[in-house]
Amino acid sequence: MAALATSAKGPPDKGSGGALIGPIAAALKRKAREIGLGAMVRKGMNMTAVVRVPDTLWRIGEEKEGKTRYGRSRQIGLHHHWHCRIIRAIPARTWEETMQKLAAGNWKMNGLAASLGEVQALLAAHPAPVCEMLLCPPATLLAQMNWAARGSNLRLGGQDCHPDAAGAHTGDISAAMLKDAGATYVVLGHSERRADHGEGDALILAKAKAALTAGLTPIICIGETEAQRDRGQTLDVIGTQLDGSTPKGGDLVIAYEPVWAIGTGRTPTIAQIAEVHAFLRARLTALIGPRAAGIRILYGGSVKPSNAAEIFAVPHVDGALVGGASLKAADFGAIVAALSAA
Ligand code: PGA
Repeated sequence: MAALATSAKGPPDKGSGGALIGPIAAALKRKAREIGLGAMVRKGMNMTAVVRVPDTLWRIGEEKEGKTRYGRSRQIGLHHHWHCRIIRAIPARTWEETMQKLAAGNWKMNGLAASLGEVQALLAAHPAPVCEMLLCPPATLLAQMNWAARGSNLRLGGQDCHPDAAGAHTGDISAAMLKDAGATYVVLGHSERRADHGEGDALILAKAKAALTAGLTPIICIGETEAQRDRGQTLDVIGTQLDGSTPKGGDLVIAYEPVWAIGTGRTPTIAQIAEVHAFLRARLTALIGPRAAGIRILYGGSVKPSNAAEIFAVPHVDGALVGGASLKAADFGAIVAALSAA
């Protein structure tokens, strides 16, 4: 398909629910009329801008070394600082086609400035992975890591946010602050937050909505305890958590993390992971409709280089949320490579 010459610049677009406004939206709509379904968009600084028109699927990509990599769809209204150039029309037929697998590292309460060497090592070894690569450092390192990763494919995320946009909440961090420091994702409802801070589904839902409003993609964590699994309650528990903490609109990621597998070196069997992920895809489809096919469902809990490939081969496992093994570039890089090869 021939390259397209259209380009568009504009001020930050604001909006929600997929409403398209602003000059870029106008250019996209014009091009969409010309070509049918989709268009490819490029944002500055090597970032791939990803766009979805309501009721229309878009496959978005970037060209590197003569190859085109395809990303996934996201709502234009939630992005800032647009400077886009439509490169090429790519029709997308299914929601699955808009999906790019995600390797997410959660550093938890680990890392000082000296740890940023791991980021340099990771980027040197994996400058252009096929999958999306994300690190969620402690908030204190976000801005520094953003600087260290400038111009790279590494995405950054926070580990929690407050449901309010701003205000008198000593010690808390808003979604807009995370965004301001360089985040595009935020982990929400991690089992350590649920256990240590008594967070429940309603609060996690409120945080997820705040994240979406600020232009962040929430990664919503769910998972059963060992006692719940032993009692045969796994699907009940995670189904309830999913229903209670997932916003009905907006781009999001689900992370299934059995509590008993986190940081323990133990993992469920492949059959158990397959059962839960198939269940979650179906439940998500019941909750939000057909676009659930394009929502990434990550597995988390003791993912390491030695078990990553086997886990990534499971249907409906669209990536991983990695704790301990994300702290070392060599280990996280091996997981990124396994996901890229899956
Ligand atoms: P782990 O942590 O990889 O160290 O088990 C996973 C997580 O908590 O996200």
